[in-house]
Amino acid sequence: MGPTSANQQPARFVWCMSREAKDTLADCATGANPPKIKAAPAAVVIGMDPDFHEQLPWLFPHTDARSWFEGDPEGRMDHAFRNSSLQGAYFLIAARAIGLDTGPMSGFDHAKVNAAFFADTNHKANFISTLGYGDESTIFDRSPRPDFETFNRIV
Ligand SMILES: Cc1cc2nc3c(=O)[nH]c(=O)nc-3n(C[C@H](O)[C@H](O)[C@H](O)COP(=O)(O)O)c2cc1C
Repeated sequence: MGPTSANQQPARFVWCMSREAKDTLADCATGANPPKIKAAPAAVVIGMDPDFHEQLPWLFPHTDARSWFEGDPEGRMDHAFRNSSLQGAYFLIAARAIGLDTGPMSGFDHAKVNAAFFADTNHKANFISTLGYGDESTIFDRSPRPDFETFNRIV
């Protein structure tokens, strides 16, 4: 239900459910991330389609929105990144709202993930996340969230 600009919906989700897919994704991850991916019941690649505008005739039928983005690959990348990040965030919040845990990660080799999961497309990885129930003996308590005054101002 979360919105995206002109209903672009550029996110392309790849759900890694098989042992093989999770191992492949883990091999692309860095630092402490690989074992988390291997242990999770599911891991998700939140990717983005830089050619999302091709879908706009049915996703945003009110007007010819496709033409706004034609011939502007740089602008499309900007929109794809912004809106797929939003969609990824909607996914994280929705999963947490129903009691699941998510482990979002940016610690991975983008070129490797693109080659492993998007080889036959021009889609690009934005970030990845595990999905399941965290092992409380190995995860941190919730880190602080700032109160309103800390990072906001009313002008
Ligand atoms: C886009 C994004 C990338 C992140 N990358 C990593 C990562 O590579 N490895 C990791 O262990 N945690 C990563 N995190 C997890 C954050 O550190 C964690 O979500 C944050 O500290 C808030 O804690 P919480 O998830 O318990 O609410 C990432 C989170 C986000 C949203």
